[in-house]
Amino acid sequence: MSVILAIESSCDETSVAICNNGKITANVIANQTIHENYGGVIPELASRVHQQNIVPAVQQALTIAKVNKNELNAVAFTRGPGLLGALLVGVSFAKSFALALNLPLIAVNHMQAHILAHFIDDPKPNFPFLCLTVSGGHTQIVLVKNFFDMEIIGETLDDAAGEAFDKTAKILNLPYPGGPLIDKYAQLGNPMAFKFPVPQIKELNYSFSGFKTSILYFIRDKQKENANFIAENLNDICASVQYSIVNILLNKLKKAAKQYQITDIAIAGGVSANSGLRTALMQLEQELGWNVYIPAFQYCTDNAGMIAIAGHYKYLAGDFIGQDVSPLATMNF
Ligand code: KG4
Ligand code: ZN
Repeated sequence: MSVILAIESSCDETSVAICNNGKITANVIANQTIHENYGGVIPELASRVHQQNIVPAVQQALTIAKVNKNELNAVAFTRGPGLLGALLVGVSFAKSFALALNLPLIAVNHMQAHILAHFIDDPKPNFPFLCLTVSGGHTQIVLVKNFFDMEIIGETLDDAAGEAFDKTAKILNLPYPGGPLIDKYAQLGNPMAFKFPVPQIKELNYSFSGFKTSILYFIRDKQKENANFIAENLNDICASVQYSIVNILLNKLKKAAKQYQITDIAIAGGVSANSGLRTALMQLEQELGWNVYIPAFQYCTDNAGMIAIAGHYKYLAGDFIGQDVSPLATMNF
């Protein structure tokens, strides 16, 4: 029997979940809307809002899961990677809570947890599988050999895929985070309306910084001809940008699947909520005979459910950490 309370505070979601014997029985996510007007997350503001949110989120999670804090067996938390000040709130809370209740602590890597979100619901992927992990801070193709034996076989050399969505949204004067909005408008537009260059990057790596610049220049040039270009073409611009990003992501994923002869393919991270990416992957499942694994929406973007399931497997492995643990802004697997 294991009942684990998990805390996620690496960026702009304060989230607390309960995992009861491998089942997620609460996954409370307090989103921070304060960043909407700044075009990105303001680290100092994120830390302050985490401080306000964390105690009510813990109480709410315990209530939803119908668990008394004395029934807990361990406290799991995101150690990194993420914003240091934001992580510090979750790590400090987890440490004091565990100390007060005399519980062991479990440190979780946020990017591994995004991948392990696939072990919350059925069907679960079979090892080894490939996972395209696409978030606001990362873009990686990961060879997942076992729960905690993972190898990054390709990654972005500069911007993440989520940043490509968010920065495009900023160019289009849409609020942060722009990914979900681009997705929404893209569903009404023509993906073939405009063409953007595909970056030529070696091996299984990605690059999105030149792509973002090409969009900036494209919009600037079009606005010279027509000041209302964005407003008149928003759906088509979003559909075309989304089509290009999805294409870039999947071309390398296809290459990786071929190279490693793997047909169990998963996606994880905030961008895996993208409808264009989900549809394109399901087409590839048919075309290439892949078994595709797409997480439920609530486990795509940042959430403590994924930290809790990672905590569950670490608990089974007896992988605990001492009270002297500190957060890590960058953290390898
Ligand atoms: O995993 P996540 O919640 O946080 C990080 O660890 O970064 O990912 C957030 C990213 C943001 O860039 C956001 O715009 C993007 O995921 N995102 C999306 C969608 N939903 C979230 N991007 C494209 N389409 C979506 N539907
Ligand atoms: Zn994340």
